[in-house]
Amino acid sequence: MLVQGKPYRTIWVDEENPQVIKVIDQRYLPHQFVVESLHTVEDCITAIKDMHIRGAGLIGITAAYGMYLAALDAVHDDFFDAKIADAASRLIATRPTAVNLSWAVTKQLDCMALINSIGEKPQAALLSAHQMANQDAAFCKQIGAHGLEIISNISQKKNKQTIHILTHCNAGWLAFVDYGSATAPIYAAHKNGIDLHVWVDETRPRNQGASLTAWELLEQGIPHTIITDNTGGHLMQHGMVDMVIVGTDRTTATGDVANKIGTYLKALAAKDNGIPFYVAVPSSSIDWSLTDGIKEIVIEERNSEEVKYMSGLCEGEMKKILLTPEKSPAANYGFDVTPARLITGLITERGICEPSQKHLQALFPETK
Ligand code: MRU
Repeated sequence: MLVQGKPYRTIWVDEENPQVIKVIDQRYLPHQFVVESLHTVEDCITAIKDMHIRGAGLIGITAAYGMYLAALDAVHDDFFDAKIADAASRLIATRPTAVNLSWAVTKQLDCMALINSIGEKPQAALLSAHQMANQDAAFCKQIGAHGLEIISNISQKKNKQTIHILTHCNAGWLAFVDYGSATAPIYAAHKNGIDLHVWVDETRPRNQGASLTAWELLEQGIPHTIITDNTGGHLMQHGMVDMVIVGTDRTTATGDVANKIGTYLKALAAKDNGIPFYVAVPSSSIDWSLTDGIKEIVIEERNSEEVKYMSGLCEGEMKKILLTPEKSPAANYGFDVTPARLITGLITERGICEPSQKHLQALFPETK
């Protein structure tokens, strides 16, 4: 995607030193564009946990490169396997909800297990991380192509009048390696000349919508408006939303979707108003072992300070301010689960399907 006209991915290997991984530090957006260098697996753990990088896809790919950095370090150690196992479990523990994290770490463990010579394992892990990164970008691009069909159909039905799409949180290119999941169809439609406008939920408490999705859309020249998290229902009642597209952090084999807290309420409002509600789902976000999202998906609980404090630009400087009575407790659930019955369709890299085990398995027969 373009940042001030220059193409970027969200993660890449330093051209001058292949032992360094570069990422866009999302904590500074939208006010500053900062690139961070990750030198060790510890740096990757901090970047994931403290949300320098975030979003299901990018969390997974950062963990994949983290395993490569761990292998580079462990190669000089007598206890290579123990060090790699320790790095894997510490990476997986950073954030529990997005399944891409354990998916990527497991792939790296499997890849290194196939190589006999310890000295060759880091290079194998690097190549495998590259493959995963390229696949992530390719899956998102395909999701864009499939989602474009849905947007085109709505555009035809509306006689090419402006289509209003509501999205929650940031399932944009910042949440992946490139293109994004929920935003990929939007970018594809815009590129194809479809007249559209995006309602961007601000997404308290970390404000991924207000700070990241809005920044992405602005950089790509896509008309959008930031709204508070409670506005969507009102807009839907007044015919001001044509469709909703969100991302996912973990989708069950039966089509239940865990996504950023507040997604479920949008799905309820969309159902009540007969508005199509789509989820963009790369297969790396599907947890084929689960069948009941509400009972089985672990919901991350983050520090209550994220709810009590807010940070932003004040007279040219980043400032953090307290919003609440200092002694009031706050709860910070990161995600919620939208049951399959509220979802119109899942947009995967292989096509669009109804949110059910039968239809997901038909698209991914190898998972049976
Ligand atoms: O807590 P985050 O910012 O890592 O949460 C991830 C999200 O941005 C959303 O839930 C998103 O829709 C899924 S990630 C593609």
